[in-house]
Amino acid sequence: MVIAGGTGFLGSCLIDAFKKENWDLHVLTRGASEQKGGVNFVHWNGASISDWARSLEGADAVINLNGKSVDCRYTSKNKALIYSTRLDATHAIGKAIQQCQTPPAVWINASSATIYRHSVVQPMDEYTGEIGSGFSVDVCLKWEAAFNSFKLPSTRKIALRTGIVFGKLGGPLSPLVWLAKLGVGGHQGNGSQYFSWLHAKDFCEIVKFAIENKTMSGAFNATSPTPIPNKQLMKELRAVLRIPFGVPLPKWLLELGAIFIRTETELVLKSRYVIPRKLEEAGYTFQFRTIREALNDLVGRSTQ
Ligand SMILES: NC(=O)c1ccc[n+]([C@@H]2O[C@H](COP(=O)([O-])OP(=O)(O)OC[C@H]3O[C@@H](n4cnc5c(N)ncnc54)[C@H](OP(=O)(O)O)[C@@H]3O)[C@@H](O)[C@H]2O)c1
Repeated sequence: MVIAGGTGFLGSCLIDAFKKENWDLHVLTRGASEQKGGVNFVHWNGASISDWARSLEGADAVINLNGKSVDCRYTSKNKALIYSTRLDATHAIGKAIQQCQTPPAVWINASSATIYRHSVVQPMDEYTGEIGSGFSVDVCLKWEAAFNSFKLPSTRKIALRTGIVFGKLGGPLSPLVWLAKLGVGGHQGNGSQYFSWLHAKDFCEIVKFAIENKTMSGAFNATSPTPIPNKQLMKELRAVLRIPFGVPLPKWLLELGAIFIRTETELVLKSRYVIPRKLEEAGYTFQFRTIREALNDLVGRSTQ
């Protein structure tokens, strides 16, 4: 398995999960080529083809997670990097696959559940979900367009429109736990915005399912089947952490705070009401269907 951008949060989750199953793992990174912890790290620049392309020869699966984090201020420089690190890597991998004698059996490319419009009423699935507008949506559209531009007869292609992944190795759950512990873990904004989450174990299982299930191709929502409003998420988090109260954070305060911590409020205020219709139709069984189960597993008393 080749994981591009596999040194980050999701890549580390996949490495942990697939190591246990004795996969031969290769990670494409801007860092040095080296063998470490049973993983073969291969240097690339995420944009042009060089020696790294040989790693794809005969691979069972290629997973592309490359991309500058969207957890930053959307300055013109950061926006350009958010686009280029996703689009250039996708193009480079597609071209490398075209040059393979034995192309990879499956190519899974990251995308995001944020491709759908802000919605608090209508759940968005892959058939009837409405695509949104604005910067983050445009990133996803161009990312998927780059991916779809490659017609690869011997390689099955899947775009994972992933929700916000909660895991133990850091990632987006950490700042929410931190806010709750500081006593400011009430709802954010008006709290009605939906939060489409996914447990990291399910993310890894979905990748495994997509590799094994040869009928799967195209775009799939990788989110839990039970998205919840932000108000409920924060209530459940406080309950699991046994924190009796949490001061809510209004939009104006979030906007001020976001400037200081160099992020954007869209990440918590956009209503992502997304459901995994196609994954469930394909027969995927979620390990964590409710937020309470997921939070108990990740930050519950017995896990600390
Ligand atoms: N985490 C989520 O909840 C979530 C949800 C939906 C979609 N996604 C998407 O899934 C992908 C992986 O997410 P993640 O959370 O694992 O991301 P991450 O922790 O930020 O890791 C992404 C990797 O991209 C590489 N990269 C290449 N150019 C970069 C640059 N200029 N700045 C920073 N990193 C750069 C880095 O690898 P090297 O330094 O080794 O080159 C980094 O480890 C991303 O494209 C993200 O948008 C994530």
